[in-house]
Amino acid sequence: MIRYEDIEVTYGDFVAIPQLNLQIEEGEFFTLLGPSGCGKTTALRTLAGFVEPSAGDIYVDGKAVTRLPSDKRRVGMVFQNYALFPSMDVWENIAFGLKVRKVGKSERERLVRDVAHRVDLSETQLEKNLAELSGGQQQRVAIARALVLQPKILLLDEPLSNLDAKLRHQLRGQLKGLQAEFGITTVYVTHDQDEALTMSDRIAVFNTGRVEQVGTLRRSTTPRPPSSSARSSGTAPG
Ligand SMILES: Nc1ncnc2c1ncn2[C@@H]1O[C@H](COP(=O)(O)OP(=O)(O)OP(=O)(O)O)[C@@H](O)[C@H]1O
Ligand SMILES: [Mg+2]
Repeated sequence: MIRYEDIEVTYGDFVAIPQLNLQIEEGEFFTLLGPSGCGKTTALRTLAGFVEPSAGDIYVDGKAVTRLPSDKRRVGMVFQNYALFPSMDVWENIAFGLKVRKVGKSERERLVRDVAHRVDLSETQLEKNLAELSGGQQQRVAIARALVLQPKILLLDEPLSNLDAKLRHQLRGQLKGLQAEFGITTVYVTHDQDEALTMSDRIAVFNTGRVEQVGTLRRSTTPRPPSSSARSSGTAPG
């Protein structure tokens, strides 16, 4: 469904990604696992259309999207630091992209309510200012903001890394459950091996812009109920 073909990304003289080849299947929860600075965010931003590769192409459903503007790619991204709008309340944050797309008011209200419900944000929380929410709640706002635009692909850049260990554990399951429920192709980025192992269908081990290994955790990529464990048979990389 997603294919990186000989992708090279440079920042000035610096080669962040020398040659990336990767294939991600429809409905898959695919994780890029690697240390800080290895190019994970760069790989996601290239797929989202925020960074232009200096060589290679990215294909989605067989079509090259490399030169498509970001808003034409139907890719939703949750950023490493959430990048929410602090001056807007929760509702406005989620509705923002719909407004930009000139979705009518009543349709907007329906979509925001629907997605808020699905990510477990209450009516009261929708009216709050962003600063009044906890880290975990803000993370759900960021996810809702991406999902409300009904993307075909969801990119999650270390969405749990700003949270404390307990919440991080709790949200892993929730996030995985959401992904299964929406059945959305997801590319997840983390430097936490345990997190990658518990959540992913497949993991690419990333290092200095290169994929060292791609591993399967389980054969099937069919969505499972949130309660089922991702740690079934199969081999983990490493
Ligand atoms: N805008 C930029 N200009 C110049 N160099 C950059 C830029 N963005 C990233 N880099 C460099 O490219 C490399 C990859 O960065 P990237 O942000 O993709 O890493 P990462 O794997 O997401 O790291 P982290 O886990 O710390 O978020 C790093 O060496 C970084 O310093
Ligand atoms: Mg990063």
